[in-house]
Amino acid sequence: MKNLATKYMGLTMKNPIIAASCGMTGSLESIKTLARSGAGAVVLKSIFEEEILLEVNQQLREAEKNPVIYSGLSETLDYIDLHIREDSLGNYLELIREAKKAVDIPVIASINCVTYEDWTYFTGKTEEAGADGLELNLFLNPADFESKEFEKVYFKIIEKVLGTVSIPVSIKISRYFTRMGLTVKALSETGIAGIVMFNRFYTPDIDIEKGAMVKGKYFSTPEEQSETLRWIAIMSRKSGCDLAASTGIHTGEDAIKMLLAGASAVQVASTLYKHGPDQIGRMLKRMEKWMDEQGYQSIEAFKGKATEDYQKNPAAFERMQFMKYYSEIR
Ligand SMILES: Cc1cc2nc3c(=O)[nH]c(=O)nc-3n(C[C@H](O)[C@H](O)[C@H](O)COP(=O)(O)O)c2cc1C
Repeated sequence: MKNLATKYMGLTMKNPIIAASCGMTGSLESIKTLARSGAGAVVLKSIFEEEILLEVNQQLREAEKNPVIYSGLSETLDYIDLHIREDSLGNYLELIREAKKAVDIPVIASINCVTYEDWTYFTGKTEEAGADGLELNLFLNPADFESKEFEKVYFKIIEKVLGTVSIPVSIKISRYFTRMGLTVKALSETGIAGIVMFNRFYTPDIDIEKGAMVKGKYFSTPEEQSETLRWIAIMSRKSGCDLAASTGIHTGEDAIKMLLAGASAVQVASTLYKHGPDQIGRMLKRMEKWMDEQGYQSIEAFKGKATEDYQKNPAAFERMQFMKYYSEIR
């Protein structure tokens, strides 16, 4: 049995596979199943900033003031209203408490947010309920033409939340930044304990019969992992905090690649839906077999090993590879 233990966000995990925030991490029963299946940690399904804001009784007045939250799409408010009626905040805290009693792996709470409004008080409640860490899904979308602050909002949210809780905080980000490398580096040096790269936004498609926009695929494919791999490889030694790889990680081989690129952990969702929670066990087995074949005794022994040349000057490295790559094709 290989030692797959790793540290992520300062939390000790028995292995680097984290069940990502998704429907499966939203109920106690499935959290228990994921833990039994071998998950190293679990990130609970996100609660939305809007749900928190509305419950503190600023309700629609606050939300309506914010063009990001209240875009005139009445569906948003219907959705929020439904959740409020279900006492989503109380249920969420209860889920944290119950999950902590039921499983012996780190339980990370998750909040999906877009502003630095009054919702941040709730982060302290997740800590009181026993969460081992907090993941902020910073869901700022570059398609927002109203916001002039974009990157600044990230820093303001982080500052506010770090002033409220003492549990480790990570952020889950999209890949849409101007000057991605510099921004991620600056974010990593704010005092957060981890960055999850990357969030997967809603994927649009077009139905050519109806001539209308429709939703694309719910689940990722392994082909989507290359951007994650690229940015984990570029950032792992430059980052001031741990990195978790997310999007397109479906197999043990995929996980190994992300660790070789320098990730401290990987987060998986789609593969759990496609293959069931037992996929975690299959991934772990594959990782152990590979470590055996390669003679590695621990994750630390190979973490980031594949990226030395890349890290020295990623831009020059990529340019050189690009030149070679396309000159090979006639
Ligand atoms: C059904 C479903 C629900 C999800 N819900 C959340 C959520 O509440 N919060 C969140 O941060 N990410 C959510 N995600 C995104 C995943 O955590 C993950 O970032 C994304 O699916 C990419 O990883 P994957 O390629 O392993 O699926 C959800 C994904 C799926 C498939």
